[in-house]
Amino acid sequence: MTGKFISIEGTEGAGKSTAIHFVRDYLLHAHLAVLWTREPGGTDIAEEIRKLILHSRSVEVIEPETELLMVFAARNQHLKNIIQPALQAGKWVVSDRFIDASYAYQGGGRKIDEKYIRLLDQWIVGPVYPDLTLLLDISPEEGFRRTDKRGTERDRIEQENINFFARVREAYLERAKQDPERIRMIDAGKPIGEVQEQLKQVMKEFVGK
Ligand code: TMP
Repeated sequence: MTGKFISIEGTEGAGKSTAIHFVRDYLLHAHLAVLWTREPGGTDIAEEIRKLILHSRSVEVIEPETELLMVFAARNQHLKNIIQPALQAGKWVVSDRFIDASYAYQGGGRKIDEKYIRLLDQWIVGPVYPDLTLLLDISPEEGFRRTDKRGTERDRIEQENINFFARVREAYLERAKQDPERIRMIDAGKPIGEVQEQLKQVMKEFVGK
């Protein structure tokens, strides 16, 4: 028996961490064997690549194409070493971000032609697609109001301007429009209780299947 694969996506300040905790508790209460992981990252090598992507201190600019190849290099390590073996062992895998983030950030944000992303997607990810993706949607303005309150230092991608995140959001919404069965949108601009209610509905439907 193979397990199920869930990914959680959203722009900055959408409340991804809170949603992940909620989903984890939901699955644990259902007595399911769950593996938690994240992208970019999830293996030693992929976490090293993550450091380069998010925290490179070099004055050398990371070109958009390089960034795209790095997220897919990390994803390849992650898929082959962590995700696929876990699914084959019948575990449920929950990943904090996955393939849709590449279409949103490198496609929407960095304006890389989607055809190159699709090529890498078909080559590296192939059929190992999430069964369910929770997309936490919030306006970039509201998202940044929330993250600014936290006062933590912004990483290399978080330092991009509001237009970049508006494009990221649009690309996520476009993905959701193309694949509404898999990508379930959560209105993350609502108060936390209402967000959790939406998450609960989707999880109930999905786990009950
Ligand atoms: P996060 O773990 O705080 O969400 O940070 C991960 C960052 O990496 C976030 O800014 C989105 C970015 N990212 C991409 O640009 N492309 C990708 O394919 C993935 C998985 C993440």
